[in-house]
Amino acid sequence: MLTKQEMMDAIKSRVEQCFSCPLSNFRTNTVLGEGDLDAPIMFVGEGPGADEDKTGRPFVGRAGQLLTKILESVEIKREQVYICNVVKCRPPGNRVPSKEEQRACAHFLLGQIAVINPQIIVPLGSTALGFFMGKSVSIGEYRGTEIKWKGNKTLFPMFHPSFLLRNPSRAKGSPKDLTWRDIKKIRSYLDEYKRR
Ligand code: URA
Ligand code: URA
Repeated sequence: MLTKQEMMDAIKSRVEQCFSCPLSNFRTNTVLGEGDLDAPIMFVGEGPGADEDKTGRPFVGRAGQLLTKILESVEIKREQVYICNVVKCRPPGNRVPSKEEQRACAHFLLGQIAVINPQIIVPLGSTALGFFMGKSVSIGEYRGTEIKWKGNKTLFPMFHPSFLLRNPSRAKGSPKDLTWRDIKKIRSYLDEYKRR
């Protein structure tokens, strides 16, 4: 039987060789994802930006540094969770990946979810949430709520850190304030998971 690492390596090499959609023409590096393959929680963003394309690692630019800080605010290290994106190649100019591009890439993310088998998936922002729900949705309506997905998994959507960079207010009810509430909930999921 293959180990989780061997299965993820197989997905990685298929991603590296993928030319199934136009995004492949623009990439410097593919960005598969990184973290604990046994993590109970998986964060899924939209797609690589410039820094991610340059390094091949997810969420390492400005938005990524904010995500890392948000996790660390509740003593979660990046290495304790798994972090990836809906699409594995950078959309030019950081535009939203099209439905066709998301569809072409979907089997990779679904493969990663099958390997890791997390209890909780955290879609970051509207694009990732829309991918999982199969329709256009507003993140503001769903963030901080639990949505059952494929029977045994739970989606717990949060705002995308890029959105927080554009909306820096910390006033009560602001996106940052709501994100603070949401990440505390993530902390409690992890604590709960450890106790079992
Ligand atoms: N934004 C994303 O959605 N993903 C990244 O990896 C970086 C920025
Ligand atoms: N729109 C998005 O795509 N993401 C957010 O987090 C908020 C608004």
